[in-house]
Amino acid sequence: MAVPLEFRTARLELRRLTRDHLDDLVALDADPEVMRFISGGAPNPRSLYETEILARMTGWDDEPFGFLAVYEGETFQGWFHLRPSVADAAILELGYRLRRAAWGRGLATEGALALLTHAFDTLDQPAVDACAHPDNAASIHVLRKCGMQFVGTFMHPRVPLEVVHYLVDREQWRARGPA
Ligand SMILES: CC(C)(COP(=O)(O)OP(=O)(O)OC[C@H]1O[C@@H](n2cnc3c(N)ncnc32)[C@H](O)[C@@H]1OP(=O)(O)O)[C@@H](O)C(=O)NCCC(=O)NCCS
Repeated sequence: MAVPLEFRTARLELRRLTRDHLDDLVALDADPEVMRFISGGAPNPRSLYETEILARMTGWDDEPFGFLAVYEGETFQGWFHLRPSVADAAILELGYRLRRAAWGRGLATEGALALLTHAFDTLDQPAVDACAHPDNAASIHVLRKCGMQFVGTFMHPRVPLEVVHYLVDREQWRARGPA
């Protein structure tokens, strides 16, 4: 049975990503700057969304986590996810991708903190992790601002790339200072 999942922050509304977001997702990934540290700038074509990616993104509807579309007012600004980690399926992994027009205003940090609060305060997770391209300074900065710490590198299973691995556990989360 589908589990409702919706959050509001000071500026954002996050709600489950659905197949109706196909046009938004294709437009988001059409920006080479958005895809710079994900695919080297190449867009994800619509056909790939239809055959593969949308199924993956909407595959957690029966769980109290998954992919969330993010809105600022009426404007689709991208997505966040909390899903089983590619590095350790026993914990959840944080991820995000925002439209370039949304960058530089703290929105990624704001949404990420809402998902971490959910993961620890509601789901009582032992830890949440994340990975990033080692040169993706903005993303790594968001992870640090959320209290995550560098724990190593690993070969990402879906892209031939050694990614940096960040993690925050429950005790670190509870002891963290302001973002
Ligand atoms: C990564 C991303 C989500 C950040 O979104 P955002 O809303 O701009 O992030 P925030 O404003 O919350 O925080 C970004 C921080 O990084 C800093 N930053 C931005 N670019 C930077 C750079 N090139 N070098 C160092 N720091 C940088 C910002 O100054 C900000 O820090 P501050 O609040 O201390 O000033 C956004 O750039 C994005 O969607 N990129 C494309 C997709 C992507 O790479 N996703 C992550 C995959 S791991």
